Amino acid sequence: MIIVKTEEEILKMKAAGEILADVHKEIKRIIRPGITTMDIDRFVEQYLEQRGAIPEQKGYHGYPYATCASVNDEVCHGFPSEKPLNEGDIVTIDMVVNLDGWLADSAWSYGVGKVSEDAQKLLDVTKKSLYIGIEKAQVGNRIGDISAAIQAFVEENGFSVVRDFVGHGIGKSMHEDPQVPHYGTAGRGARLVEGMVLTIEPMINIGSWKIKVDDNKWTARTLDGKLSTQYEHTLAITKDGPMILTDQGEELE
Ligand code: MF3
Ligand code: CO
Repeated sequence: MIIVKTEEEILKMKAAGEILADVHKEIKRIIRPGITTMDIDRFVEQYLEQRGAIPEQKGYHGYPYATCASVNDEVCHGFPSEKPLNEGDIVTIDMVVNLDGWLADSAWSYGVGKVSEDAQKLLDVTKKSLYIGIEKAQVGNRIGDISAAIQAFVEENGFSVVRDFVGHGIGKSMHEDPQVPHYGTAGRGARLVEGMVLTIEPMINIGSWKIKVDDNKWTARTLDGKLSTQYEHTLAITKDGPMILTDQGEELE
């Protein structure tokens, strides 16, 4: 069942999203070789507390941390660790912020210091694919229009779309209907109506889309050991087009 939100509810989610966007801007500022993803996780917890918000992921189905920190071949749900990041690593920080019971979800990938040309292309294509998906998030379109546009762009660029994890509706719960795959067929799936709030969160691999899950039962990594990146926004469907609730003030590319 899709839970449509009122304008007032969307504004509450936007308030959570603004804090989340600010966290990502802070991470961009502090991330560098030598810092650990556990340092980042601790920073996020303190920052959210100061802003009166709660890290929704901590304790969610037993997940132990405020953030997911997925380095290099890790696709998603990486555990923050005390191992220092190295120059050239790429790391995705994903979190859900709860402000007064309303949620926002956003993941962002960061290059640590100078990254390889291949890694930079993967980052650029993944981010662009998110915005290409968002452009399709218009009243009257269908979920499959978002999925197909992302898949076509990613595959044209020689990369692959992870199948095992999808975007989702979000509101007072982290995961609501509908599912938003990042691959699929235009014209299929639920029709988008005003007041729906969704995440779009493509996980894109340099090699094959196939993944495996670590013994910790959470962390997904590429089966071939090659790089994976992810960008995710929470957005509302409005009659004036998609409203990005976790916008960091970047240009729509
Ligand atoms: N933020 C993730 C998403 O995009 C969920 C992380 S799983 C958790 O759906 F358990 F760690 F929260
Ligand atoms: Co997320």
